[in-house]
Amino acid sequence: MRSKSASSAPRTRVLTGDTPSGRLHIGHWVGSIENRVRLQDDYECYFLIANLHAFTTRADQPAEIASDTIEILKDWLAAGIDPDRATVVVQSEVPAITEITWHLSMLLPFNRVMRNPTLKDELDVKGLGDKYSFGFPLYAVGQCADILAFRPALVPVGEDQLAHIEMCREVARRFNHTYCGVDPATPDAKHVEAGGLLPIPEGLVGRVGRLVGIDGTQKMSKSLGNAIYLTDSTTQIKRKVAQIYTGRVDMNAPGDTQNALFQYVRSFVTDPARVAELEDRYRRGDAIGDGHIKVEVAAAIDTLLSPMRERRAQYDASGGEDIVLDIIRTHAARANAVAAETLGAMREAMKLRFTR
Ligand code: TRP
Repeated sequence: MRSKSASSAPRTRVLTGDTPSGRLHIGHWVGSIENRVRLQDDYECYFLIANLHAFTTRADQPAEIASDTIEILKDWLAAGIDPDRATVVVQSEVPAITEITWHLSMLLPFNRVMRNPTLKDELDVKGLGDKYSFGFPLYAVGQCADILAFRPALVPVGEDQLAHIEMCREVARRFNHTYCGVDPATPDAKHVEAGGLLPIPEGLVGRVGRLVGIDGTQKMSKSLGNAIYLTDSTTQIKRKVAQIYTGRVDMNAPGDTQNALFQYVRSFVTDPARVAELEDRYRRGDAIGDGHIKVEVAAAIDTLLSPMRERRAQYDASGGEDIVLDIIRTHAARANAVAAETLGAMREAMKLRFTR
């Protein structure tokens, strides 16, 4: 158990999260999880599991959503999220978030929400057509509430989430303007100083905003079957990396280092000198084949994942489930204290204080 020396200055708050939709993959790692593990040293971190958002497309699968919630937390812990330093928030355990969603939804025009490009993409990718629930688009407003309930300064996310962060920033400004009298011309950084309740948070994209899947074309994603999971074995990693398609056949022909394989080289080979050397030889067609590079990439990914696999096995062993449930329970109390404080102040600002 590591603990930071007590300091009088409050640490900057960070909030981010995942929808529990299955196992985490290395695209999640480079896009966001890696950032979280790093940030938990110096920031007051809240990491949220958006299990209520899973219901917006899978309301008929409560048991799967419950087990996905536990699984994602095990993956987080395995990846190095430290429950002694960061607070884990299971969304459904924090009722203030749901009420905040209601209040914020009045401050966003319906058509503004429906124009959100991330939402539109999802409707496409998931093939939801015109069959999606009334609640589905509401999750984007819910995400604003997830964030603002904790009043963070930073929200580390993958590139695809920036549209949501932008909407969150808009609704926070509008809340401060509508209910706290903040002049709309106030710069974002001055909102709290000007009397606003909600700081305007900033998105922070990981070092690889969008990792291509092993198919070499689409973004890595569970639903596309092109992912390398944090729990994959050495053999599975090798087999999957071997599938990365570049179209190159002649190892003496100049290669394109913007291809999918080289995105993996730059993302996972840790020695920058080695990365530069591989790029140089590949570009020149200096007798370096894709197969050789794939072996090196697979080894690098295996080195990254191997300690995670070990930690994950501990949580899967007997007693692991109890540890995880215990974390959820104790952390929910902390999360509720913060979110209830935000909601209380929001209600005050909205003149919803009849019983006081
Ligand atoms: N929508 C995010 C995703 O699918 C998960 C999420 C829910 C989230 N609430 C959040 C991310 C708040 C950041 C902040 O990845």
